Amino acid sequence: MTMFRRCLALFGMLTMTFALAPQLQGQSSGVAMTPPMGWNSWNHFHRNVTDAVIRAQADAMVSSGMRDAGYTYINIDDTWEAEHRNADGTIQTNEKFPDMKALADYVHSKGLKLGIYSSPGPLTCAKFEGSYGHEEQDAKTYAAWGIDYLKYDLCGLRVQMKAAPSHEAAHKIMVDAYIKMRDALRSTGRPIVYSLCQYGDDAVWEWGTEVGGNLWRTTGDISDKYASMSAIGFSQAGLARFAGPGHWNDPDMLEVGNGGMTAEEYRTHMSLWAILAAPLLAGNDLSTMTPETIAILTNRDVIAIDQDRAGKQGDRVSAEGPIEIWAKPLADGSKAVGVFNRHPGQLTTQVDFSKLGFKGAVKAKDLWLGKDLGKIASPYTVTVPGHGVLLLRVSQ
Ligand code: GLA
Repeated sequence: MTMFRRCLALFGMLTMTFALAPQLQGQSSGVAMTPPMGWNSWNHFHRNVTDAVIRAQADAMVSSGMRDAGYTYINIDDTWEAEHRNADGTIQTNEKFPDMKALADYVHSKGLKLGIYSSPGPLTCAKFEGSYGHEEQDAKTYAAWGIDYLKYDLCGLRVQMKAAPSHEAAHKIMVDAYIKMRDALRSTGRPIVYSLCQYGDDAVWEWGTEVGGNLWRTTGDISDKYASMSAIGFSQAGLARFAGPGHWNDPDMLEVGNGGMTAEEYRTHMSLWAILAAPLLAGNDLSTMTPETIAILTNRDVIAIDQDRAGKQGDRVSAEGPIEIWAKPLADGSKAVGVFNRHPGQLTTQVDFSKLGFKGAVKAKDLWLGKDLGKIASPYTVTVPGHGVLLLRVSQ
């Protein structure tokens, strides 16, 4: 090889490396630059999700003002799949979804995006058809339908993982499966958000980005109870450094409006998820919301905390028994500060802003009252209702 050719080859390799580098961050670059916002069928509808339900949710997302507040994805969870693939292995929908392409067109016509669900295993969690051995085919089908988001749920692959000779071998089966679908999605050329659902096994936050995840579940399933929501939400302490634009920790979908918690508890849920820069995927029936539920889900100040462009996840600053203070740094130099009371009855406490990086008096807005508090002195005495929160946006 002449010197010139060697230089040319080296130049080629370098350009290849640099061209590929950004794609290694997340499945498709440019998606989920802030935590995904939308709705998912599972928490409320479980197996009863249908084409009609999805259309009604899309309609309600627009008429309730949620779309204009930033909610975008309408995600179909498990149970849309037919029992059998067709002769060439193409995935089919069951009778609840007569025409997925037409449904996607409908959702897109509302200015929204459509998500779908599958598993790297032969079966999904609810024992429907998974993508095992059909990854490329399924990714192509999703792209042809116009799908914009895939939740890829591990459970069905556990059969294969359990048969592995060691934990390391099982881990490799899981990682390879996630990479396989990442590559399949990538090769469609369609920007599709890639959501890993795997409950935090093997500290997924440490390798979720490498396998292409735009978000990854960090915990087991949420249920519509304060005990479940608070155990999940407050257990996220320490995970902040793993999140950022294009790759987020996912403490599971919202339960706001499903009826199992008080309004106070739902405000805690929404506040904590915003501080965690968590995906905001509503999980209630959007077509039957009370004004109170709409107010919680569409509070613009709270959404702005979650969607802040710096993309920094917040963390716990202190815990004094049931009183926990969490803070999230924001792009303009201010901070979201949540004073949470995990006790069932009201408690009074003091917030020392010097421990939150401020000097002397601060400027603050109470985001649930929507009230500017002006300048407040530190320490600041607050009374927080049982299971409730005081959520402030604080600046110097
Ligand atoms: C798992 C997931 C849930 C939901 C169901 C569907 O439990 O964690 O979010 O997708 O499967 O079967």
